[in-house]
Amino acid sequence: MKHWQLNKEEGGIVVATLDKAGEAANSLSAEVMAEFAVVLDQLELNPPSGLIVRSGKAAGFVAGADIHEFTQLDTPEKGRELVARGWDLFNRLASVSYPTLALIRGHCLGGGLELALACRYLLAVDEPGTKMGLPEVMLGIFPGWGGMRRLPQRIGPTAALDLMLTGKTIDAKRAKKMGLADECVPPRVMDMAARQLLLSGRGRRPLPVVQRLLNGPLKFVVARGARQQVVKKARPEHYPAPYAIIDLWAKHDGNALAAPAVVDRIIHSPTARNLVRVFFLQERLKGFGKECDFKAQRVHVIGAGVMGGDIAAWCVLRGLTVTLQDQTLERILPALKRANDLFAKRLRDPLKIRDANDRLIPDVTGDGAVHADVVIEAIFESVEAKHALFKALEPKLKPGAVLATNTSSLKLEDLRTVLAKPERLVGIHFFNPVAMMPLVEVVAADGADPAAVQAACAFVRQIDKLPLPVKSAPGFLVNAVLAPYMLAAMHAVDSGINPETVDEAMLAFGMPMGPIELVDTVGLDIALAAGRQLADGAEPPHCLLRAVENGHLGKKSGRGFYDWSTGRAAKAAAGQVPAGLGERLVEPLIARTERLVADGIVADADLADAGVIFGTGFAPFTGGPLHYRQKRG
Ligand code: NAI
Repeated sequence: MKHWQLNKEEGGIVVATLDKAGEAANSLSAEVMAEFAVVLDQLELNPPSGLIVRSGKAAGFVAGADIHEFTQLDTPEKGRELVARGWDLFNRLASVSYPTLALIRGHCLGGGLELALACRYLLAVDEPGTKMGLPEVMLGIFPGWGGMRRLPQRIGPTAALDLMLTGKTIDAKRAKKMGLADECVPPRVMDMAARQLLLSGRGRRPLPVVQRLLNGPLKFVVARGARQQVVKKARPEHYPAPYAIIDLWAKHDGNALAAPAVVDRIIHSPTARNLVRVFFLQERLKGFGKECDFKAQRVHVIGAGVMGGDIAAWCVLRGLTVTLQDQTLERILPALKRANDLFAKRLRDPLKIRDANDRLIPDVTGDGAVHADVVIEAIFESVEAKHALFKALEPKLKPGAVLATNTSSLKLEDLRTVLAKPERLVGIHFFNPVAMMPLVEVVAADGADPAAVQAACAFVRQIDKLPLPVKSAPGFLVNAVLAPYMLAAMHAVDSGINPETVDEAMLAFGMPMGPIELVDTVGLDIALAAGRQLADGAEPPHCLLRAVENGHLGKKSGRGFYDWSTGRAAKAAAGQVPAGLGERLVEPLIARTERLVADGIVADADLADAGVIFGTGFAPFTGGPLHYRQKRG
């Protein structure tokens, strides 16, 4: 066999190790699954005392199905065959006469978890990389290889639907607590624990009575609640898969093959195709972080304001040690407080929170710059201020350290004039709020040192963001495409359409937030300044000028286009959206994206689509603005 190794131990236990040939991570391709069927054939002839399924990869157990195969499903038959392949194989695994155990260390996702769920026991190894989930919904499809049936049976339908409908993952401890894992052990005892559990003869912990009722006669109650949750987040015309998951579980006990029409509709939906496209775009962005082996340990951030403070906190959360510099300690303290809130929310464990706080070091004198592998400037948006800083900073830096600015609107060419080595300055442009936004633009001015740009990309990847290389130009990619879009939205308001109606038009198009609410969130003064720079000399909208004159600056001032006194935009009913309004408003964004590709600001159309999706939230189910345009003709 190419991908599986079988080892028979004393006592008759067989260990089946998946080590997919030619890949760094395991995925369940047709070939891998066909070989596993052969494994089961062999064991049927000669039954072992127990079977342990494990991974031979350092990366994890199994990352999921082989997503490349999804792009080859050009007929309904092939889609159904794909579902049947895993459904039948894992049913067969679930019904073997000998005990079976999945030893889960590292990622165990999608088809990987469905394989594990078909085993009698699931042993989770407690280490940071271990995570389990059924994220198929993120690709616009459903967990059709038994996950929709077995996960609710194991952990109850409410928790199972929550995992399947959001695609989120859980760690080993949580898996044990929820009843997904039978045991959770540290790596050093995992082999012994696996053998003990396998031969223990222990029955599975039964689901509590209420959960059994909810997974049986009371399914409709859970389904109704789940549907209500999904409606708030995703419209069925944009994202049909979560609705299908609820129905397949409620009506067919998770057997998609009992509803072939649903399988055809979901697998061949433009949404699924586009979300798979977005998955590969994301992989491409990740690839920019792999072009060199730069690895940072210490980061120095200068400016503890909105951005600098949050960038520092994010780097700490991702394991780095960060010195945070500002003019006074008083200016750093609010950033430390925000950082502590972030750590508390994301880390939960008090020891880990304490360690994170210890790694974030206030540094008024800026001594940290000397030791830093990456230095990020995030001070006031002023050329003079940045010049003074860079002049004093450059002589202190380590030779290979990355020197970066987070500027949104200043030209790198102007900022670097004071440097002895101007080619070393790069842009590492984060978006606000830092913790939420996956994209970071890595900006290269003409003549930038390619090694510095590659190191910046590697650093961005190291902190688990998606690097998008762009050339230096006003607004780079993301702000440059947002400006004409927001302008069009405000011009629509000038023409007499309600802000609510404008926002509804874009929500219906599939945007995560309406453009008028977005202007309010960004701040009307900032939008006005950005518009002056990025709108090709177009007149600022009257509604914007009027609001700014009246001191209505948006969310931060309690009032903008909407009233924000409760912390949320108070919106009236949207009313009837004029036909074609959404398409009309998005048109300037698409046109600007095309122009930026033509001008070489971003290397190609796919990367532009990736940048606009991950930088603005542009409706992922469309596959990105340029893909959308191309498909619409
Ligand atoms: P901010 O005004 O909130 O914070 C700037 C901080 O820098 C202040 O705390 C100030 O005391 C400090 N500072 C100024 N001069 C300093 C110096 N010489 N040494 C040490 N500290 C100094 O500004 P914000 O919004 O965080 O912006 C910072 C940079 O990030 C700007 O270049 C901006 O264009 C960029 N940016 C801002 C975004 C936003 O949404 N606010 C988004 C992306 C980039």
